[in-house]
Amino acid sequence: MSLLKAWRAAIVHCIADPKEVGIENAYEYFADGLLVTENDKIHAIGHADKLLPKLPKDIEIEHHPDGIITPGFIDTHIHYPQTDMIGSYGEQLLTWLNTYTFPEESKFSDKQHAREVAERFLAELLRNGTTTALVFGTVHKVSVEAFFEACEVQNLRMICGKVMMDRNAPDYLTDTPETSYEDSKALIDAWHNKGRLHYAITPRFAPTSSDEQLQLAGKLLGEYEDVYLHTHLSENKDECAWVQELFPQSRHYLDVYDQHQLLSERSVFAHGIHLCDHEYHRLHETGSAIAFCPTSNLFIGSGLFRLSEAEKQQVNVGLGTDVGGGTSFSMLQTMNEAYKVIQLQNENLNPIKSLYLATLGGAKALRLEDKIGNLAVGTEADFIILDKKATPLLTSRLALSKNIEETLFVFMTIGDDRAIKATYSAGQCVHQR
Ligand code: GUN
Ligand code: ZN
Repeated sequence: MSLLKAWRAAIVHCIADPKEVGIENAYEYFADGLLVTENDKIHAIGHADKLLPKLPKDIEIEHHPDGIITPGFIDTHIHYPQTDMIGSYGEQLLTWLNTYTFPEESKFSDKQHAREVAERFLAELLRNGTTTALVFGTVHKVSVEAFFEACEVQNLRMICGKVMMDRNAPDYLTDTPETSYEDSKALIDAWHNKGRLHYAITPRFAPTSSDEQLQLAGKLLGEYEDVYLHTHLSENKDECAWVQELFPQSRHYLDVYDQHQLLSERSVFAHGIHLCDHEYHRLHETGSAIAFCPTSNLFIGSGLFRLSEAEKQQVNVGLGTDVGGGTSFSMLQTMNEAYKVIQLQNENLNPIKSLYLATLGGAKALRLEDKIGNLAVGTEADFIILDKKATPLLTSRLALSKNIEETLFVFMTIGDDRAIKATYSAGQCVHQR
């Protein structure tokens, strides 16, 4: 039976990349809008006064006079097993991994622990309005099983993978090329494209994989048409120097992955801070994407992502939190820090561009733009309701806002989980404040 439901509020969503069509043509805004869903899909979107007369008289309508509906946020890089180590003090990447990350990740050999953290992690994402994420598990197969099982209960569109890591990490956290290949393959067969779930082949980063393991990761990527490849790239200067030592044959960092056939339209590389022209060019040529993770890049002192350079070289970019290197689950706070990273390079990040990166741009980076990322009719009903009166400061500041761009910018500057009134996934409410 088909079931129509409607929400009345302001609505804003991106319909194109501002870089391609200009800011004005990149979004649609309805000051008094109506979003109509039919079961799990968007059925109609438009001005309330135009749509209301066309709807059945008995349709259920939720009215949010202080609400703004946007698509659910898309986080293109996050580690669910690092939920409980967010805010770990004082180190940069390589020491941070050894001191905090590896001991924390060892706990995920226990499926019960993994399940408990996965549930809290998903609750945190949804509280922050994030409806899709590209997620690292740990080296343990059970960590990914626990994650997917938790996602399935709420019918979330999520992507995850088991870490492949066979060297330069503690023995308790390493696999072998063969077991990583077998475990990843079994997980793909069991979970990839099951409902709304997808699998990402996940070598941690070049330093923790042997040539043999990377080669098997590439083989696996070639064996399936539409699985993802998810890893880290060129985040920290010491890391980059180490990669050159470990792989003297490679021309640059990305070349290590390139030589193992790991670049593809479904490959997502977190960070990509210290890249040369040739690396941008290969990312563009292969349709690969970068996940820009500003809170992490600042917190662990990695550097400033060059968004305008990536754009100039036509590389797909999404936005990521990178928790627990990142300091917030909130994509609003991630946009706040992105703005500052760009400011430090004497440029401005337009709020519509930020919204694009957090929604449709992320969907495009993940090749899911036919399903999620905006509120086009026929796409999946993953959306959120922002509350203009969520806090006293939002209330007073937004009372002075002159237009939707300014309103969005204020949400992106002082907003966080409190600003998310409700989150919907496939038409179902999965969070209510
Ligand atoms: N590089 C390799 N592993 C990690 C990780 O867990 N977090 C971050 N930020 N970078 C990494
Ligand atoms: Zn990461």
